[in-house]
Amino acid sequence: MCGIVAYIGKKDAYEIVVKGLKRLEYRGYDSAGVALLTDGNLNLYKKQGKVANLEEFTKDKDKSGRVGIGHTRWATHGEPNDVNAHPHMSNNGEIALIHNGIIENYDSIKRELLTKGYTFQSETDTEVLTILVEDIKKNTNGTYAESLRLALQQVVGAYAIVMISKENPRQLIAARKSSPLVVGIGKDGDFFCASDATPIVEYTKKVVYLDDEEIAVLDLDDGLKLYSIDDVQKTPYIQELEIKLESLEKGGYDHFMLKEIHEQPRSITDCFRGRLNAEEAWVSLGGIKEYEQKMIDAKRIIMIACGTSWHAALVGEYLFEDLARINVEVEYASEFRYRNPIINEDDIVIAISQSGETADTLAALELAKSKGATILGICNVVGSSISRITDAGSYTHAGPEIGVASTKAFTAQVTVLTLMALSLAKKKGSISDTKFRTMLSELEIIPQKVQEILDINDKIKTISAEYKDATNALYLGRGSSFPVALEGALKLKEISYIHAEGYPAAEMKHGPIALIDEEMPVFVIATQGPSYEKVVSNIQEVKARKGKLIAIVTEGDEQVKEIADHVIEIPEADEHLIPLLATIPFQLLSYHIAVMRNCNVDQPRNLAKSVTVE
Ligand code: AGP
Ligand code: GLU
Repeated sequence: MCGIVAYIGKKDAYEIVVKGLKRLEYRGYDSAGVALLTDGNLNLYKKQGKVANLEEFTKDKDKSGRVGIGHTRWATHGEPNDVNAHPHMSNNGEIALIHNGIIENYDSIKRELLTKGYTFQSETDTEVLTILVEDIKKNTNGTYAESLRLALQQVVGAYAIVMISKENPRQLIAARKSSPLVVGIGKDGDFFCASDATPIVEYTKKVVYLDDEEIAVLDLDDGLKLYSIDDVQKTPYIQELEIKLESLEKGGYDHFMLKEIHEQPRSITDCFRGRLNAEEAWVSLGGIKEYEQKMIDAKRIIMIACGTSWHAALVGEYLFEDLARINVEVEYASEFRYRNPIINEDDIVIAISQSGETADTLAALELAKSKGATILGICNVVGSSISRITDAGSYTHAGPEIGVASTKAFTAQVTVLTLMALSLAKKKGSISDTKFRTMLSELEIIPQKVQEILDINDKIKTISAEYKDATNALYLGRGSSFPVALEGALKLKEISYIHAEGYPAAEMKHGPIALIDEEMPVFVIATQGPSYEKVVSNIQEVKARKGKLIAIVTEGDEQVKEIADHVIEIPEADEHLIPLLATIPFQLLSYHIAVMRNCNVDQPRNLAKSVTVE
């Protein structure tokens, strides 16, 4: 996730590009950069940090030019710094390119280019693509548009790209696969490109949303031409924008949280992109590969986290223990760091943190490091403090999470933990090859199953309306659904301010059952699995006390439907993957209840997105 803006036409490009980048900063702002073509020169300026840093840096620089590309970065390969910032330039200085997405096979392409004598300034995958275009151009002597097209045929991954060249200063070249890119058709023959319509809508409402593997050549003389990556010319579908600028930043959703809930099919896909192949039956988490044997040999793995990330760690405990038969302990980071814990040198400590900056988690990790433990990280923010002090780790690639209540980061964390558990189990031989293959195939289609649940949003909204005035709520689950119950309760209380508790379903009899009456909504995960009958008994116990029961069930379940007040049906899935699905209805329930209670969904009272204080 990053921000891309480009302009070609009769106006000054710099102002349009920088203003557009500011509109896109919510998409990530590790660094910002701009490249401008003017009088045959390609001027490139880029700085770590927000767009304001770039503006400060370019204050006294030559900002002329009517062709420009700009980028705000959300790092995936290479620390957030000046050198890794986009745009990237070819060795011969002829082209500049910006990119949103991930080039999965950049390493093999880079090795090839290095043998040809090319040099690299940055650690990014994007610079590799830039120099691949240069190499193809040199060997084929085609146009740069043609060279980019041929380069993209070699690339595996996701991209939204805009490129400019000294050779043809009257052209912008754009291409897209998986990462969004929209072209704006200006009123006086000029053209715009951006990650979404936010930077464009004030200049024109005529847009073309590029489809996957499409290349757009925006030429001041020849106009807009659209091609497939196989060089088949296509007719652009020009749309008229209706939505307002303000809502555009949220992608047309009312809140960032709702946008991020609906992004989960993409963010889960981005999380396992290049790390999972069901057909060839492999999982590959490059970041921790060299530590896998150490994890298998460890007497225990300690997972430390806070809040939602602690719930993800609890899911990880079930997965690691059941699939890889490795002993896992899950600790609140804030408790772990102060209780003088026993930490041995052969311990593996995994910190889970969306922001990678949570003070308690960072401190607990530093304590573990000081005692000689191996420390690993699962973070969403590349180059964050936690990712920098760990021996190794895996990024979740969920993209910037703006809503304070964590949603897509949670499912991305659980996805990484599932991949880790499967990889370890496979290496250790603790699950059969058949089970391994089945789980990979099931994990690969989880994004579609998440989408099916998102598609019943209206039904979930209707149920939410019945419980928006509750003063208390109870969430119940068994096995790996117990942490999902905890997460569901946290979501409700942190954005709607209704007190809610998550509990193991069986534990209800040991106290919380005293709370149950006709005013108390009880949300239960009752999907098909080993503990289904036991959960049904718990549901009976709730109903016997007139509790209001909302059950998440497997599609087609008739038994619970007879007992519960409401059922929310989710697609069938292996019990180990249910946490990725069962959490979606709880996210939507808490979102709708909070909206109906006129709460500030994206910035709930008293909360911060990253708790960098103790
Ligand atoms: C969850 O919705 C909250 N935003 C909060 O509990 C959060 O998960 C916690 O502060 C940990 O943050 P981290 O993942 O960035 O470390
Ligand atoms: N993978 C590229 C990088 O890490 C692009 C990241 C982005 O989408 O901002 O620089």
